[in-house]
Amino acid sequence: MTDNSPTPSRRSLLAVGGAGLALGAAAAGGAVALARSDDKSGEGMRPTAESGGAVPFHGAHQAGIATAVQDRLHFAAFDVKTEDRAEFVQLLKDWTKAAALMTEGRAVGEGAYGGLAEAPPDDTGEALGLKPSRLTLTIGFGPSLFDKYGKAFGIAGRRPAALVELPKFPGDNLDRTRSGGDLCVQACADDPQVAVHAIRNLARIGFGKVAIRWSQLGFGKTSSTTPDAQTPRNLMGFKDGTRNVAGTDTAALDRHVWVSDAGWMKGGSYLVARRIRMNIETWDRTSLQEQEDVFGRDKGEGAPVGKAKERDEPFLKAMKPDAHVRLAHPDSNDGATILRRGYSFTDGTDGLGRLDAGLFFLAYQKDVREGFIPVQRSLAGSDALNEYIQHVGSAVFAVPPGVRDGSDWWGRGLFEAKGV
Ligand code: HEM
Repeated sequence: MTDNSPTPSRRSLLAVGGAGLALGAAAAGGAVALARSDDKSGEGMRPTAESGGAVPFHGAHQAGIATAVQDRLHFAAFDVKTEDRAEFVQLLKDWTKAAALMTEGRAVGEGAYGGLAEAPPDDTGEALGLKPSRLTLTIGFGPSLFDKYGKAFGIAGRRPAALVELPKFPGDNLDRTRSGGDLCVQACADDPQVAVHAIRNLARIGFGKVAIRWSQLGFGKTSSTTPDAQTPRNLMGFKDGTRNVAGTDTAALDRHVWVSDAGWMKGGSYLVARRIRMNIETWDRTSLQEQEDVFGRDKGEGAPVGKAKERDEPFLKAMKPDAHVRLAHPDSNDGATILRRGYSFTDGTDGLGRLDAGLFFLAYQKDVREGFIPVQRSLAGSDALNEYIQHVGSAVFAVPPGVRDGSDWWGRGLFEAKGV
C-alpha cells in the first residue's frame, strides 16, 4: 500500500446504509447524538468526541500517552524481517498514512471493497460502520532494532543512551515469547473491534517486512490519567490510578514523561510494558484486612491508610513497610514518577483450573533509568503484593515524538537525521 487516495471513509463506504441509520436515529427522537464536527472532507456527519469521535493523530507528541485512557487495548510487538533500509522506511511511511486514516475512522488504502476483484482488498473491513472510537496508535522502537539492524539501517550510532535493556528483577519469570520486540504499536480505542482492526491492518501492510512477535488484548483500563473522572478498578478490586500523572498536567508531563534532550527523541517518551499475572484464586481467599494492608489503601473508597478520601495525600509511615503504595510512591524512590496506562487482561485459563489473568502494565517516562527501574527495584525487593503476582512478560521501547503533519512519518527523525 503506497497510495491512499482517494480513500472512502467508513461512513461513506456505507453510503445508503449509513444515511439510513442516521435518519432512522433522527426519526426515533434523535437518541443517538450526532454532531457536525469540523468536516472538511464533505463526508457528512461525524460523531463528537463524547460519542466515540476521533483523537487528532498529528501533534508534537504521539497520541495514546497523555490522551485520556480509552476502554480497550490491542498491543503488538513486531520483529523486523528485512535488512533493506529503503523497504523499512517505506513501511514506516505506509504505516503512518494508514494510522492517520484509521484514527479518523477511515478505511485503509482503497477500502474494503469496490477495488480490483482479482486482488485482496486494502482494508480488512471489520471496522466498516464503526465510529473512530478515540483510536490512538502509538509506535515504539525496541533496543533490538538497534542491535540487530543498526548497521543495515544506518542507525547504529543513534540508539539513545536512555534505551537500556531492563535489568532482571527478583521474582521475574519472563517468557521470551511474550517479551521484547524490535517495534511496538499500542492501539487504544473505546471499541475493541476498532483497536483489533488497526493492528491487523498494520500487520497486513507489513507482511514480509515485519511479523508480530507477541500481542496482548486489554480491557477495563487500570489507570486513569483523568483525575476528574471516576478511578477505574483493577482485577483485584482496588481503585487504580488515583495518584498518577494527569494527561492535562503539562508541567508534570514535561518533567516526568516527555524527553527534553535535543535529538530525534525530543518530545518522545520511553515505554515499559510488563505482563503481570495475578494469582487471582489466592487473592480471592485473602482477608479484606490483608488485601487493604497490601496496597495501603482501603477497598471501598480507595483512601490511604488513616485518611478518609481517595484523593487525600497518603501518609506513608502509617502504612505497613511493605505496602505497595508506600514502596511505589515517589517519596520512597528519590522522586521517580511514571505515567501508568495499563489494562486488565483475561486470556482464558492456564490448564490447571486457574484464570490466566492480570494487569498488562504500561508506563511512560522520560527515562526508564529514573522511572520504572528504581520503582520496580523497590517493589521487586519487598512489595507485599509479590505474593499475589508474577511478572511474566517484559519489553521496553523508545517512543518517538509526534507526527507533525501529512508529510511527516513515524520515525523520520531517527532515519533522516544528519550524520546517518
Ligand atoms: C499487578 C500489579 C499491580 C497492581 C495490582 C497495582 C495496583 C496499584 C494500586 C491499587 C495502587 C493505588 C492507587 C493509585 O494510586 O493508583 C497503585 C499505585 C501505584 N503503583 Fe501499582 N500496581 C501494580 C504494579 C505496579 C508496578 C509494576 C509499578 C511500577 C514499577 C507500580 C507503580 C505504582 C505507582 C507509582 C503507584 C502510585 C503510588 C503513589 O504515588 O501513591 N505498580 N498500584
